[in-house]
Amino acid sequence: MPSSPVHDALAALVRHLEERRAGGEEWVWLSPKARKELRDLPKVLVAARPAPGKPAPAPPKEVAPPEPRVTAEPARPGGPVTVPPSPPKLVAPGASKGEKLRWLAERVADCPEVRALDSLRETRVFSTGNPDARLMFVGEAPGAEEERQGEPFVGPAGQLLTRMIAAMGLQREETYITNIVKFRPAVPNQGESNRKPTREEMAACLDFVLAEIEIVKPEVIVALGATAACGLLGSEEPVGRLRNQFHSLGEVPLMVTFHPSYLLRNTNLSERRKVWEDLLLVMERLQLPISPKQRAFFTA
Ligand code: URA
Repeated sequence: MPSSPVHDALAALVRHLEERRAGGEEWVWLSPKARKELRDLPKVLVAARPAPGKPAPAPPKEVAPPEPRVTAEPARPGGPVTVPPSPPKLVAPGASKGEKLRWLAERVADCPEVRALDSLRETRVFSTGNPDARLMFVGEAPGAEEERQGEPFVGPAGQLLTRMIAAMGLQREETYITNIVKFRPAVPNQGESNRKPTREEMAACLDFVLAEIEIVKPEVIVALGATAACGLLGSEEPVGRLRNQFHSLGEVPLMVTFHPSYLLRNTNLSERRKVWEDLLLVMERLQLPISPKQRAFFTA
């Protein structure tokens, strides 16, 4: 392809989309404006062609990639990630944790940064569980059932999460369950279809999640799946390399494990065992009792 600002931008777009596909994203939501701009691209490409005898326009300046979340030690691949403590950007008013969380839930519904993204649907699904929980689970984004019921993790993946929590000897209500994105990502002809949230959607909701962590002050966070891990730790590593060790999100130890919907798709005992090993480490960290029977779950 000849080099011109438009061609270079197009090549950068293709690279970006390929990276996202390699990261597991199957959908990219495009606003009507972006769809129109893509439709008009052939005309722009023709117009950008230098007239015969004229020099090609100067290449555009390098655009810096978006800042990754700061990690104190970039860490060896597969090693623990440390996100240094930083003051929360959103400080919720209220006398109790519950009041502060309610304020956040109301605020996110009219947050201009979130609303500017017309790629998210209207219904807010904030969080559920105990504001004093010792253990917090962070998932990806609500799906169809969560949107209907207004509560995170109530569909098939949520039912599996509830069983995983029970296997730890806890009740779902004792834990705090939230998502990195508070609205269901939109897709054309939505029906029951869901998609992973984009980086922009995660970035728009991140301050709310960090404020939730600051309010609840869990002793351990479990990030369910690569999207939650990427949103919280800024790491693009796959779950297989991040799991089974504690990372640090400020002062809070954070375990990454596979998302329950991955376990619904991949029913191998070995994958269930991996998640269970991660949860055993969490139980040890919380000093929860572990019986020999629990230690042996999912071993052949
Ligand atoms: N998957 C998620 O990540 N979150 C939900 O709330 C439901 C399914």
